[in-house]
Amino acid sequence: MGENTNTTKPKLFITRALPPAVEARARRDYDAITQNEGAVLSAGDIINKSTNCDAILTCPADPINGETIKQLNERIKIIATFSVGFEHVDLGAAAMRNIPVTNTPDVLTDATADVALLLILGATRRAAEGMKLIAENKWTGWTPTQLMGSQIGGKRLGVLGMGRIGQATADRARAFGMEIHYHNRSRLAPELEKGATYHESAEGLLAVSDVLSIHCPLTPETNKFLNAPRIAMLPKGAVVINTARGPVIDDDALITALKTGHISTAGLDVFAGEPKLNQGYTKLDNVFLLPHLGSATIETRNAMGFKALDNLDAFFAGREIPNRVN
Ligand code: DGY
Repeated sequence: MGENTNTTKPKLFITRALPPAVEARARRDYDAITQNEGAVLSAGDIINKSTNCDAILTCPADPINGETIKQLNERIKIIATFSVGFEHVDLGAAAMRNIPVTNTPDVLTDATADVALLLILGATRRAAEGMKLIAENKWTGWTPTQLMGSQIGGKRLGVLGMGRIGQATADRARAFGMEIHYHNRSRLAPELEKGATYHESAEGLLAVSDVLSIHCPLTPETNKFLNAPRIAMLPKGAVVINTARGPVIDDDALITALKTGHISTAGLDVFAGEPKLNQGYTKLDNVFLLPHLGSATIETRNAMGFKALDNLDAFFAGREIPNRVN
């Protein structure tokens, strides 16, 4: 665990309570102020609460857009996000003010890929419907036809975005006997591809995806990527899985396809407008929904926090920042 040895501790505004070990290290090395758990910060809160601070440690639930960045106190020198995704921080606006922005790659790969598999299995094996039967005390006993799902072995998994998490998801899915297809900006080297079939176009991938798992970042190009015309390109009865970012999916289009049966089921951990997800999903039986838990293990959340602090430590020690994204 790195230690910031400056005698005057930099003042750090943390937008949300962090895991205890991370908070302890932050307090050891920084004059840290933490926002109370649960409260959603407005842009004004972030601006006011970080006045007199040297740095902000934020997370995807506390976006820092261009307007907010313009109004941050001039003392703010760096923004670290407790996440691999960084679309919630306006990198350009930060660069204009010479504020580095950092993220926490690598350490959440396995935890997120585990949840992608949980979603694939939960959706295809109708886990939500089974849990509801038990919770509502409506289970009348085993029958040969009860809650029959579909087997994933032998099915084609389409990985949209074959970065670290996409590859780790593919590794897990291979163990379940799935055939891996992927689309990525560039084709992977054979040792990373591990026999997966590369599709030059995303649309080519859609056509063969019995299960489509989304792992691309949210950018202006991927916003609402999975819209009605592209959903229609998926095989009938396909399954949609998302552990990346909610807005990559056009929710109304997916909900319609889940109702018609063109999409048989969906497993979603992320949603546009979190935490206020499109209520159309909650009325459906053929979905398996989680509240953005992809990285939520104690090991991973500690590692994310330590990485965010490593980035801050490097900056304040005048070293190269390991995970700068702007
Ligand atoms: C991230 O790091 O971007 C994740 O969404 C948090 O789980």
